Amino acid sequence: MASDTATAHANVNLALVKYWGKREPALNLPATGSISITLDGLGVEARVAFDDGSADRLEIDGSPAAGKEAGRLERFLDVVRAEAGRRERALVATRGSVPRGIGLASSAAAFAALALAGSRAAGLRLEPPALSALARRGSGSAARSIFGGFVEWRRGERADGHDSVAVQLAPPERWDVRVVVAVTTTAPKAVSSRDGMRRAEASPFYPAWVAGADTDLIDARAAIEARDLEALGLLAEHSALKMHAVGLAARPPLLYWRGATIECVHRVWELRADGTPAFVTIDAGPQVKVLCTPADASRVAAALAAVPGVERVLTCIPGDGARVLA
Ligand code: PMV
Repeated sequence: MASDTATAHANVNLALVKYWGKREPALNLPATGSISITLDGLGVEARVAFDDGSADRLEIDGSPAAGKEAGRLERFLDVVRAEAGRRERALVATRGSVPRGIGLASSAAAFAALALAGSRAAGLRLEPPALSALARRGSGSAARSIFGGFVEWRRGERADGHDSVAVQLAPPERWDVRVVVAVTTTAPKAVSSRDGMRRAEASPFYPAWVAGADTDLIDARAAIEARDLEALGLLAEHSALKMHAVGLAARPPLLYWRGATIECVHRVWELRADGTPAFVTIDAGPQVKVLCTPADASRVAAALAAVPGVERVLTCIPGDGARVLA
């Protein structure tokens, strides 16, 4: 039935102040707030159809979902069904322009698109905050991909997580920046962000990480408001390096970087020393993402492409939030 079917699209987002650690794992409630930029051109389209099938049928990029990925999708559909008070099984197909599981936030885009398509297909018309809370259940960072431009996901205080939702700080057209992504390896990452966070939460540096978050959020909001690239870039670099330092001090240690990751960081620092304002951030994977001005993007991209071990370089502009396609 057409009314039980919906298709939606969402873009990935890149955290400038990172989410790394949970106050409650079952609901994906974060220990700290985080701030991101939604990126155009790296996204996932999701189609959800509830029907009278006897089981959920799940397809990712044209192949049946298997293992952990399938389990995660089914659990998310259960959340949608519970919210809508429905029991039907679903046919789900997602297609992304982002490689999966390599630290390019494909799950953020996928669960934001699934939250929108799934809730519509189930007959719900959720307002953006409720949609953000639903997306969060699939993947924490998906809460932010509901919105475009610069976005803050609030930690929230409530045990039910209803106040742990994202809000837009500035629309994409308010500040034209570039994010240059250096892909250093397309092999799947060894430790998922879920497992990585669990390990980081036991690090002796974790309390300092949590304690520093509020100041970072205040400073990032001010930098976005003032469109101050240097302030935001230095803060994004600081947040990312702190996040990885927490993992380094964990037992067993957590290190997502490869050799090319570190070479990219040094290359960006050299560019900066030569007068190009460019700033690195790194997520739960070996890729390096660089924040810079539109005028400097091609120079930054060329410099990163020349680093040995860099397989591919992509340049992104600020993107829109999740939208219904059909
Ligand atoms: O949403 P998750 O569980 O994939 O975690 C995302 C974690 C980071 O990408 C490293 C940081 C962030 O805030 O997006």
